[in-house]
Amino acid sequence: MTLPSTTSDRAPCTTPDRAPCTTVNGVGGYLPERIVTNDELASRIDTSDAWIRERTGITQRHIASPHETATFMGEQAARRALDAAGVGPDAVDAIIVGTSTPDQGFPATAVAIQGALGVTRGFAFDLSAACSGFVYGVSIADAMIRAGQCHGVLVIGTEVYSRILNWQDRGTCVLFGDGAGAVFLRANTEHADRGIISTHIHADGRYGDILYIDGATGQTAKPQHLVMNGREVFRHAVGKLAGAVDEALAANHLTHNDIDWLVPHQANLRIIDAMGKRLNLRPEQVVITVDRHANTSAASIPLALDEAVRDGRIQPGHLILIEALGGGLTWGSALIRF
Ligand code: ACO
Repeated sequence: MTLPSTTSDRAPCTTPDRAPCTTVNGVGGYLPERIVTNDELASRIDTSDAWIRERTGITQRHIASPHETATFMGEQAARRALDAAGVGPDAVDAIIVGTSTPDQGFPATAVAIQGALGVTRGFAFDLSAACSGFVYGVSIADAMIRAGQCHGVLVIGTEVYSRILNWQDRGTCVLFGDGAGAVFLRANTEHADRGIISTHIHADGRYGDILYIDGATGQTAKPQHLVMNGREVFRHAVGKLAGAVDEALAANHLTHNDIDWLVPHQANLRIIDAMGKRLNLRPEQVVITVDRHANTSAASIPLALDEAVRDGRIQPGHLILIEALGGGLTWGSALIRF
């Protein structure tokens, strides 16, 4: 029996009788005020600015203060995305949050953000796909909008990895930062040439032991820490992300020449460079924030989108390719016409 593909390789948004499409109407981001440089880390653990820059491209990261929780930062990013879209919270009828660092086991961070925004209709839920949380969220939101289940959806990535890092483990603690990013997606029947063209999400649980958070709320009172086999993650990231970007282009009969911007998950400059080269993009077509934000997991893509939209690089009509890989392993890509 042939199983259906996980790829939503349906007809692109341009199909006239396929309404509604899902357009990105607003993008927002939030970064904690406190910046921690590589040198500051090197004053506390056995590392150096040179090692971190060379291996990852990271120079600094933002670290949350106690009041900057996943809910708080997600709400700020959501408000900025709604402002950018020129709408109020009353336009929202669904909230999807990708996070590995929720404030509580439940209620879901998405429901807490819904409450903070004063939204009282629709639905809200968190999804757990680690660094792929934003790509997964966009995929689910697009499917639900196309199915007519909701019309105005906030997809948010919000993470406080600083609270799950082992700050004595130099192999992981130098890699991550905190922050939140959000997009406001809307059902759209007017601009048939814009919106989410296709999404492609994957998971392979065989590799759960190369990147995970040890000790969940469902276990005993073990402290939660991120554990990673960096070399293995690197190896899988390059291969699987290459597959995901090829898949997105092939599904839409596009080539690298059609892409205006690659907005990748910001884990490591070497992985990002490898993807840019594979797609034959000029370096300036790749949006990079990892140098200043480090890896903010599910928040990294919407934070990068926010930066490139606000500084005017991404313009209406541009074709954007997003891609991510995270613990699970989970990975995916999406093509979006802004
Ligand atoms: N400072 C100085 N030395 C260090 C540090 C550090 N912060 N961390 C590790 N080292 C040392 C190691 O102890 C080792 O020393 P040894 O040779 O004496 O044993 C040496 O550096 C090499 O260690 P490796 O782990 O082999 O270094 P590698 O070149 O693989 O780089 C890194 C490590 C940067 C983590 C790399 O494997 C990587 O980027 N992997 C991808 C992981 C990733 O991006 N994860 C994010 C989550 S998943 C995702 O978002 C895609």
